[in-house]
Amino acid sequence: MKIRGPASVSGVMRVPGDKSVSHRTLILGALAPGESLVEGLLESADVHSTRSCLTRLGARIERLGQGKYRVNGFESGPEEPREVLDCGNSGTTVRLLMGLVAAHPISCVFAGDASLSERPMERVVRPLSEAGATFLGRAGSTRLPLAVRGGNLRPLDHRTPVASAQVKSCLLLAALNSTGTWRVTEPAATRDHTERMLEGAGVVLWRDGSTVELTGPQRPRPLSVTVVGDISSAAFFIAAGLLAADDGLALQGVSLNPSRTGFLDAVKAMGGSLEIVEGEPVSGEPQGRLVVRRSQLTGTTIGGSLVPRLIDEIPILAVLAATARGRTVIRDAAELRAKECDRIKATVEALDLLGAKVQEQADGLIIDGVTELVGAEVASRDDHRIAMSMAIAGLAARGTTTIARTGCVDISYPSFWTDLARVAPDALHRDEDSLA
Ligand code: S3P
Repeated sequence: MKIRGPASVSGVMRVPGDKSVSHRTLILGALAPGESLVEGLLESADVHSTRSCLTRLGARIERLGQGKYRVNGFESGPEEPREVLDCGNSGTTVRLLMGLVAAHPISCVFAGDASLSERPMERVVRPLSEAGATFLGRAGSTRLPLAVRGGNLRPLDHRTPVASAQVKSCLLLAALNSTGTWRVTEPAATRDHTERMLEGAGVVLWRDGSTVELTGPQRPRPLSVTVVGDISSAAFFIAAGLLAADDGLALQGVSLNPSRTGFLDAVKAMGGSLEIVEGEPVSGEPQGRLVVRRSQLTGTTIGGSLVPRLIDEIPILAVLAATARGRTVIRDAAELRAKECDRIKATVEALDLLGAKVQEQADGLIIDGVTELVGAEVASRDDHRIAMSMAIAGLAARGTTTIARTGCVDISYPSFWTDLARVAPDALHRDEDSLA
């Protein structure tokens, strides 16, 4: 994809459904006896991975229309699948489903693409093994592919070494079908979609700050969910608006779950013009309308408990910091190295090519704002969030920015290029040779 900048953006838009909520809707729908209904499901490659694994485990998931699905839950529990559970590129799929199957007397094999096979699974394998599940990896490895034998699990009181909603959710899903009280304590609170949706489905749990407790067994009731707009997808357009919307850019129906709004807090701390009008919650998730305008930003410091609230938005935040006045320091974010690619390295390399002043740190980035970025050829590393971050950087940069292998946006935001073309009509040029 070629992007010619500087380009301006304007208009009104709605981003697709939240990825985290979409995965969880299908999973809880599969666990609930009877029929659940979903509207606004994100139809992306990652959510498709969850759908196909759940189907292999015996759930019936039917597409009724655009984003509209009916889920018929397992009869009594998941069936032993005949085939490998292919989780594609999706960490949420593998980590949550490992928790689900570990609490049932079945065996399955989890696999994923090259990126997912490099990502750490120890964080779920260790507690689930301690609870009594058996894992088998190649040469004793805890990376994918992994075979799991589940069964009756002992309850755990687990302190997660990393703040990860995937680990927390994995253990809550294991607790649902076990006997006794499970407790998960995180170093900092992470996204709480699993807890909200479980409560919405009648499951009783207790939570306080970064600790959650669930006493099993409990079975969720069937759900009727409308999925809110994904704030992680909206972040790319919020950034585009801050860099290039003289007349403003409005985004409707964006999730405002406080465990996800760290990016909005950071943008405000940087002096961004951002208007937030909160509406009625949708299926237990706060949401609202945002209006964003071109702003001269100033550097900020990001660290501590703010990091899990904006972990997926750090690459696009780095793009904003690249032309902000002064220095931005991002620390406590070593987890970025364990995402779809090493996002610290990928962000530093791409922004450096665009003329930014960025220094790589073990657990983050230091960025000194420059007055202007200049178009260049950059790599997506097949990481959806890197590709989209660099597209927005390209809008602001002078000249042409070429991004190779941009098909990866399908992981979380298949209509990204179409949406970008709508708000920035003259900026995009598809280069057929460079498409993955
Ligand atoms: C997610 C949790 C986060 C996030 C990922 C989605 C989830 O990962 O980065 O995109 O849906 O639970 P971690 O749990 O590994 O931090």
